[in-house]
Amino acid sequence: MSEIVIKLENLTKKFGNFTAVNSINLEVCRGETIGLVGPNGAGKTTTIKMIAKILRPNSGRILIRTNHSELRNLEDVSSTISQMGFLIDIPNFYNMTAYELLKYFAKIQKYPKDKIDDRIDELLNLFKLSEWKYEKVKNFSKGMTQKLGVIQAIIHDPEIIILDEPQTGLDPLARIEIRRYIRELQSQGKTIFVASHMLYEISEVCDKIALINYGQIIGFDTVENLALKLRTSILNCILLKPLSAENLQPLLTRMREKLYPYLDQNLDPKVSAIPIRYKPEKQELKIYYDGKAESRGQILKILIKEFESDFTVTSFTQPKTSQLEMVYSEMVKNNVPEGTQNIKGGSLQNERQ
Ligand SMILES: Nc1ncnc2c1ncn2[C@@H]1O[C@H](COP(=O)(O)OP(=O)(O)O)[C@@H](O)[C@H]1O
Ligand SMILES: [Mg+2]
Repeated sequence: MSEIVIKLENLTKKFGNFTAVNSINLEVCRGETIGLVGPNGAGKTTTIKMIAKILRPNSGRILIRTNHSELRNLEDVSSTISQMGFLIDIPNFYNMTAYELLKYFAKIQKYPKDKIDDRIDELLNLFKLSEWKYEKVKNFSKGMTQKLGVIQAIIHDPEIIILDEPQTGLDPLARIEIRRYIRELQSQGKTIFVASHMLYEISEVCDKIALINYGQIIGFDTVENLALKLRTSILNCILLKPLSAENLQPLLTRMREKLYPYLDQNLDPKVSAIPIRYKPEKQELKIYYDGKAESRGQILKILIKEFESDFTVTSFTQPKTSQLEMVYSEMVKNNVPEGTQNIKGGSLQNERQ
């Protein structure tokens, strides 16, 4: 069993009446790469800012272990922070050259003075920025600035590296490069905690994913286990004409009765509370079924025969997106707490290269 290096216990942050981070529990072990994945507004940056001591939690605590010492409350220790490196938000660098900037950060982090220049050269080389060493950072492209942000986070060779949306605003090629650097850091045995709203971008490099939505962790496991745990088979069924709102509920009830033997009997409420949903904006029925080919055939037969006078099916498909992506987007959509609809966040971006 490997050592826990970061432990979040019932971590909660409120802004006024609004709970941005809601009693989060999470453990990160030495050498692991953990992805904190959720849509914009989910509470990722707030969580990371609490770990970085930029924000104070309202309740709960953060325990950190560095240098194989005891797990200690972050509030009680000042030295641990130097064992951690942070990239938070999009870095806003000043009118300095890359070299000046990195030297400045290395000094703040008390990296041994005689080694700073070598360290800067090593990292600029690794991130293919060597020829930009004496260029003003304000002339850098977004991707280069972002890379510099990552270098700044690791300049003092910390054990624990915390990156908030390292791929934000980057083109597909640069995003692949960031993944490569994360792998490089993994190979050095670093513990990495990386927040992202892009599930696909991050899932590949992470040992485990913590799915966060509306300030709550709604799943924490390996990508494979999350997909397995939340396995669900969906059929998307497009209708010729929209269903009338007044007949919708009785119609859905009748469909549930007729399709009952083929529907998913163990549907995870986090995925969907009901096995058949209607999306008026798309004229689409979403049917959570047991995943069997025969069931698919039966469902189609019943929809056409028994509901002939109610609607006409023009398309009947099983979405091709990967299981976890689908589950992620479903969870995100369905995990809207009472009273928060249309107010906060919830936009899912799944940017593929
Ligand atoms: N300083 C603040 N004051 C008030 N609300 C905030 C503040 N910082 C963040 N929030 C709100 O908290 C929620 C979570 O924000 P954030 O942690 O930045 O989400 P994420 O990083 O997952 O996109 C959002 O709804 C955001 O508007
Ligand atoms: Mg954020």
